[in-house]
Amino acid sequence: MCGIVGYIGKRQAAPIILEGLSRLEYRGYDSAGIAVYDGERINIAKAAGRLKILEEMTHNGETLSGFVGIGHTRWATHGVPNTVNAHPHYNKSETIAVVHNGIIENYIGLRKMLKEKGYEFVSDTDTEVVAHLIDYYYKGNPLEAITKVLHRVEGSYALGVIFAEHPDQLFAARKDSPLIVGQNEEGCFIASDVPAILKYTRQVTYVDNQEIVRLRGDHMHFYTVDEEEIQKESVTIEWDANAAEKGGYEHFMLKEMYEQPKGVADTLLPRIKDGEVVIDELNMTDEELLSVKKIYIVACGSAYHAGVTGKYVLESLARISVEVDLASEFRYRNPVMEEGAMVIVVSQSGETADTLAALRESKKRGFKVLGIVNVVGSSIAREADSVLYTWAGPEIAVATTKAYSTQLIALYLLALKFARVRKTVGDKEFAGMLDDLKKLPDQIEMLLSNKNHIQKFANRYIGAKDIFFIGRGIDYAISLEGSLKLKEISYIHSEAYAAGELKHGTISLIEEGTLVAAVSTQPELFAKTISNMVEVKARGAFVLAVTNEGNIEIEKAADYVIYIPETNPCFANSLAIIPLQLFGYYVAVGKGCDVDKPRNLAKSVTVE
Ligand code: F6R
Repeated sequence: MCGIVGYIGKRQAAPIILEGLSRLEYRGYDSAGIAVYDGERINIAKAAGRLKILEEMTHNGETLSGFVGIGHTRWATHGVPNTVNAHPHYNKSETIAVVHNGIIENYIGLRKMLKEKGYEFVSDTDTEVVAHLIDYYYKGNPLEAITKVLHRVEGSYALGVIFAEHPDQLFAARKDSPLIVGQNEEGCFIASDVPAILKYTRQVTYVDNQEIVRLRGDHMHFYTVDEEEIQKESVTIEWDANAAEKGGYEHFMLKEMYEQPKGVADTLLPRIKDGEVVIDELNMTDEELLSVKKIYIVACGSAYHAGVTGKYVLESLARISVEVDLASEFRYRNPVMEEGAMVIVVSQSGETADTLAALRESKKRGFKVLGIVNVVGSSIAREADSVLYTWAGPEIAVATTKAYSTQLIALYLLALKFARVRKTVGDKEFAGMLDDLKKLPDQIEMLLSNKNHIQKFANRYIGAKDIFFIGRGIDYAISLEGSLKLKEISYIHSEAYAAGELKHGTISLIEEGTLVAAVSTQPELFAKTISNMVEVKARGAFVLAVTNEGNIEIEKAADYVIYIPETNPCFANSLAIIPLQLFGYYVAVGKGCDVDKPRNLAKSVTVE
């Protein structure tokens, strides 16, 4: 959500900034802008729509000459996505330029105060308040002005600021919105995420909450909001720059679906040792695990869907009570939490505002929080008591696939760990489950190789108005994710229903030819789900079934069947989701949608 890039150094800033912004396109945005100091003044270029428009307008940055600058891709929150509201924003004399990611929650009061002092606003954004407020406090010392502003603003921010009077400096600050800084021999960089600057440096420093950075061409200084200088360690980014490239695939989403076998293997295999599940990162003894009375899983979107699966699997294997919550609900519902409970937050980005708030709320109440996180060094990873990393690698497509698949693995491993200490599965059954887990990467590979059939089937539905997904138990969790994958990238209305619930209202939407995808991977529920399939078929639905190899009985109730290979029913989600991801993808491709950057969506939802 919003991307920030800034540069100060020996090279022309604009091309570096534009290139960096293009690496952040995955975050979701609807306008873009750049400000560069040219030796006399700060010049700003902005455009609504894709970054390409800004690149063309500035001849890939050539028309904006200068060695210090900031750029931004905006995901509109306050004010429509037009050129005026795009960042950067100036102060009134155009000597200060600001880019911002986050929300200034008290901007209305600040705007009123500034207006009374004679400031005029040209945009509807909360960010413009920051530009004028810096101007208001600026008496020649930029650091002092910024710290004063940070004491006045409430909400979340990652900021990039340049001053015409101090062209040898670039400022950055952060609270609850991601921001990193990096350096090489030719200059210093700020960015919302690593891919933006990975081409230039692998040494990055994560800016923490309420810290300010002063960057010059050859060094960086870090300060608290009280202007005290602090020392910070940089980290080396290990992953390969190619991991954030399309590598010959038409879309990042397709590439990332194909990376699932590797992500699953990387997340799983190092944690199986000598026939046991070993999760050192938990930092909990068997006695401590045994003392956990209840588990709360809190997350958003697909990560929440992984959590729903986690609930079924943990309850089934470890016989422990699990409550799953949407983070946006959990944080405000004042939940009654049982003593001795453990909280698990699940997040690919590790920056999702609601999930982070849920983590903080849980910690405030004295609960230990485990983060299942993909992005190393992200806010959730840093604030959780312990972190179980999913090793999916960088995920660029807005619609998650490989991160979701690795979240499932992390939750299975936890379920098995709990099951082991609680002695709720026998040795033989446990060993069989580990064998089944180890087979998943190859089985996923096999399902992916079936993509042409699914593409053919998907092409029939590019004109669909509504598509329904039904399932029971874990199959319901799979349906939730299958439905979200389809709707978020193809813009076809879709709903997922617990199969038994459909006839309590929603079945009235089924018309002649409506596609209903029925997921049926849980043997003890086969007969029940078949009854629900028959019900919708009788009302004209075309039924696609996703079921286990050998369950040919289902062909009597389905019009089209996709079979998944044999595995323990607890792990069926990892297989059944693959054809549903492919289905959503190919429907969207068939419709000509912008698959990697669906409208209105952002990869990392850093505002609530
Ligand atoms: C959907 C999707 C989102 C995310 C959700 C949480 O494809 O990607 O629903 O799952 O925004 O994001 P993270 O996992 O980064 O907390």
